[in-house]
Amino acid sequence: MQQIPRREFLQLLGAGAAALAATARTVRAASTKPGIDVLLDEPIGVISPDLYGHFTEHIGGVIYDGIWVGEKSKVRNQRGIRSDLVEHMRRLKPSVVRWPGGCFADSYNWRDGIGSRAQRPKRANFWVNERFLAGAPDGPAKYEPNEFGTHEFMHFCRLIGAQPYLAANLRSNPARDFYEWVEYCNAPAGRTTLAGERARQGDPEPFKVRFWGVGNESWGCGGNFTPEDYAAEYRRFTAWVPAFGVPLAFIASGPNGGDLDWTRKFFTRVTERDKGILRSIYGWALHYYCGTSGKGNSLDFTTEDWYDLLGKALRMEPLIRDHWAAMGEVDPDHRVKLVVDEWGAWHRAGTEVARSHLFGQTSSMRDALVAALTLDTFNRHADKVAMANVAQLINNLHSLFLATEDKFVATPNFHVFEMYSAHQGGRSLRTEFNVPRTGGSAPALPALAGSASLHGRRLVLTVANTHVTEPFEAEIRIRGATLRSGKGRVLTGPDIHAHNTFAQPRAVEPHDLELKLSGASNTLQFPPASVTLLELDLA
Ligand code: AHR
Repeated sequence: MQQIPRREFLQLLGAGAAALAATARTVRAASTKPGIDVLLDEPIGVISPDLYGHFTEHIGGVIYDGIWVGEKSKVRNQRGIRSDLVEHMRRLKPSVVRWPGGCFADSYNWRDGIGSRAQRPKRANFWVNERFLAGAPDGPAKYEPNEFGTHEFMHFCRLIGAQPYLAANLRSNPARDFYEWVEYCNAPAGRTTLAGERARQGDPEPFKVRFWGVGNESWGCGGNFTPEDYAAEYRRFTAWVPAFGVPLAFIASGPNGGDLDWTRKFFTRVTERDKGILRSIYGWALHYYCGTSGKGNSLDFTTEDWYDLLGKALRMEPLIRDHWAAMGEVDPDHRVKLVVDEWGAWHRAGTEVARSHLFGQTSSMRDALVAALTLDTFNRHADKVAMANVAQLINNLHSLFLATEDKFVATPNFHVFEMYSAHQGGRSLRTEFNVPRTGGSAPALPALAGSASLHGRRLVLTVANTHVTEPFEAEIRIRGATLRSGKGRVLTGPDIHAHNTFAQPRAVEPHDLELKLSGASNTLQFPPASVTLLELDLA
């Protein structure tokens, strides 16, 4: 391991200070060098629960076979929605779900998805031409039956306790369709014809949808716009939208990864007549997938590939910083926040659980580490990132669940989300990982990475050990407080390829850590290729 320069190490907690002791999975160490320094007096911002958001698109097996099984299905369901999914989602306290795309959104007419299900039109799905689907059955992945529309999505959100985030069509529908969809969702009962239509479909009360995406990937599948042209479209689409008392939050289609040109040119052009428009932009949508293109599928990877992917996941941090700085050139007060509404690992096909599941992949411990490193990055930038949505919820890229027909399983990503839900609503604290770099070829990774948040007198600390084979010992140093008690959970597997399947649904799941406090040492050992959650009570 190569030692990196460390910032000033803080003093160990004084006499009588609490400490973490070893358990079955951890051993105490005498080392006082590498450590995690939590700076209680350096808050960053509140960790919005919206950072733990989800994304569901009409693509492959996400909606049909994943979320929607239909009311008459033999699969356990709640008005057509898969019950296993609902029950697992409730455990995550999900705050927001984005729908209906993705690229699909810019081909979608919301009117197709309302009214009697038997009468709804069947359309070619946006993804119908994907080569992967050539040999798949001519089912809903190719031909959209519109059984799952606005009401079904709202019902799903209500069942799991999340807010809806609707992505509007900017490429192939006029602006009128956008504001009429807003009216359909938000107009009070009895006030407009569209509100009456909504009531006839079973929902007299308005949905009060706050989050609206104004197009998706407008630099690509959302219209191949230049940033200047998209800025003009954004202005036109949002120039007059009825609010109906809902504080509408528009999310503009932001860059693909590191495309700073898109950010700079959009912000310059959209404000050229009036900087006041910045007040209307709630979020700037950054999309970033850390891919393994050209390499194996999600389960076929080497140690080198492991480090490579985790290194790519850590790129989220400079992306946030760089786009934030570019936005600040035009918006120095930072009225507009980042919304990372698509992120995750994108692997080659081959581990999907059904032939029609375009982009379906079985996530392993490697993807769990990607999830942990990414969520920690969002926590550390809670002042900049207002929302994030992992792509995608089920049967797709970086999914939390896999399902087909009556089979259902939670992936290691689900367990990371459940563990990390402890951060929601806390105050993110600056936390320094004074640890060596490790692993693979350059650029090497930090041996440990993570984040911390404060919830009254409870400190939540999450830590990923990125090393494939080596455990890592580190001192937990809380500046400004001592520890009284604590509990923990660790997610790890017998191997870096470990994953859950329908046959072995619990091959990877978290285990409790028994944390004993002693006044002598705060040292904890983190198992290789693991994700740890610590919930510590401060004295
Ligand atoms: O998540 C799959 C696709 O990736 C989305 O539809 C699109 O927005 C992105 O390119």
